[in-house]
Amino acid sequence: MCGIVGYVGKKDAVEVLLEGLKKLEYRGYDSAGIAVIIDKELHIRRSVGKLCNLEENLAKNPLSISARIGIGHTRWATHGRPSEENAHPHTDSTKNIGIVHNGIIENYVELRSKLEKNGKNFKSETDTEVIAHLIKKHYNNNLLNAVQKTLSELGGSYALGIICMNEPDKILCARHNAPLIIGVGKGENFIASDILALLPYTREMIFLENGDIAEITADKIVIKDIKDNNITTREIKSVRWDAMQAKKDGYKHFMLKEIFEQPRTIEDTFRGRIYPDEGKVHIEEVKLKEKDIKKISNIYIVACGTSYHSALVSKFLFENFTRIPTEVDIASEFRYRAPILNENILVVVISQSGETADTLAALRFAKSRNCQTLAVCNVVGSTMSREAMYVIYTYCGPEIGVASTKAFTGQLTILYILALDWAYKRETLAKNELKTYLKELWEVPVKISKFLKNTEFVNDIAKLFAHKRDFLYLGRHVNHPVALEGALKLKEISYIHAEGYAAGEMKHGPIALVDESMPIVVIAVKSKVYEKIISNIEEAKARGATIIAVANESDKEIKHKSDHVIYVPKTDEFVSPLITVVPLQLLAYYIAVLLGRDIDQPRNLAKSVTVE
Ligand code: AGP
Repeated sequence: MCGIVGYVGKKDAVEVLLEGLKKLEYRGYDSAGIAVIIDKELHIRRSVGKLCNLEENLAKNPLSISARIGIGHTRWATHGRPSEENAHPHTDSTKNIGIVHNGIIENYVELRSKLEKNGKNFKSETDTEVIAHLIKKHYNNNLLNAVQKTLSELGGSYALGIICMNEPDKILCARHNAPLIIGVGKGENFIASDILALLPYTREMIFLENGDIAEITADKIVIKDIKDNNITTREIKSVRWDAMQAKKDGYKHFMLKEIFEQPRTIEDTFRGRIYPDEGKVHIEEVKLKEKDIKKISNIYIVACGTSYHSALVSKFLFENFTRIPTEVDIASEFRYRAPILNENILVVVISQSGETADTLAALRFAKSRNCQTLAVCNVVGSTMSREAMYVIYTYCGPEIGVASTKAFTGQLTILYILALDWAYKRETLAKNELKTYLKELWEVPVKISKFLKNTEFVNDIAKLFAHKRDFLYLGRHVNHPVALEGALKLKEISYIHAEGYAAGEMKHGPIALVDESMPIVVIAVKSKVYEKIISNIEEAKARGATIIAVANESDKEIKHKSDHVIYVPKTDEFVSPLITVVPLQLLAYYIAVLLGRDIDQPRNLAKSVTVE
């Protein structure tokens, strides 16, 4: 979604703002702009399209001298089409106030008509411009006070960066249901909606909470409560990510880099948490005691997109190992289906970004029903990680590619560890079984690395099928969700229509789609349902389908049943999704490259969907 940056200090503010916005491009946007103050005058430059258009605009309309304070924004249109007038920053009619905003002001129509009745002229179709006019209306030589009064009138969500030409040395920022971070520097300070924009300058960060408002100068940061104006202290966190991680490291695309990072990110995620030889699991951050775990009557797992697919895999893990009834919901559906919730129910939300609006709404709904809540997130300090009762982080580092890859296997790693740990504590798993499964997980990174040593043959298969219009992906049991995930990867980066199905469903409809033009990707690793999958392959072959099978290296039969086989190392079937998903990620990637798609920023998509 949108991206916010802000700077105050000794550097050239325009340079810092543009560098910060570039780090946020991966979030998806359709216009961009900056506002700076020079000699108590507000200067704004905005452009539609990519950041290079904004740089061109600045070159054509240069600023007189370097600015030392400013705010910037990349916009992903929600209210008002992508246009220069609708691009942020927005100002009041006297160009005294400059503002950038992430989120949605839900009562902006009513506020706007009141302001228009009082003679205010609007230049844009956005909800954000309303905020600029309101601040101006309340301004009486005290920006903090004017902003507080304005915020008391707003409904909806916001992360704001505000500058004012009458108070040219400070940035005001505030947040409600949209992330905002302060970067703490020496003789300079920053704001951003995302860690990545701050990493080139500082790793010391303050994650603002809902209801925080902060006044920032080059040397001072004062955080207050929006409502009662009391000073609030917030911890300065040192963020582990470094700027290098956020670079491509020589890979053509972030997505490819992140696929190849998976052996390390899985290891980073389980290191210090599992001890196979001792049969021990140590999850520092989840303070669920044995008696609490025994008290859990049901688990609901709620997520969107790829995170929903890891949730579907985890249902098999929790029910098979812990014997706790587990349901999985698409986040945007969960709170509308009147689920039966109470204090004995654990609601797990899974979210790479920790900011997905529907998943966050589901979390809040669960909290309002007194459920215990656990967030599985990849972004430290994200809203879900701070609002859930417990949080456990996947240590995957920044996932830049819009198509989620390493976050998926990181989530599966966490869910596998939790299921094993709770099963042992609920005495549904014996110590020796625990050791066996932990060992299986421990060996996954080596097995993925082995597979990733030679992926050219996946590219060869991609070349044969890149021109196809439709794909089917089939899987059973824990690999049914992997079939869904493989189909999602293909459709979201290549724009080819792809559907994932439970293989057993073929006879109930999808087999009518099958003919010579239809490639079918089938996950056929050794498992208790292997024979069934083989018959599904034979049914499809009999109707002319082309079969691309993902199977174990030891499988000598599969090549006689399929047109192409992608071999992967054997694992225990419950661990197999961590491995079977990798060839599907690569197949989607190579096809999309052949089609010349925008791999890391596919059309219409954003990395984090922070609006419902
Ligand atoms: C997956 O490749 C997509 N980018 C998308 O489905 C994503 O998984 C979904 O929007 C959920 O995002 P989250 O994990 O940050 O909540």
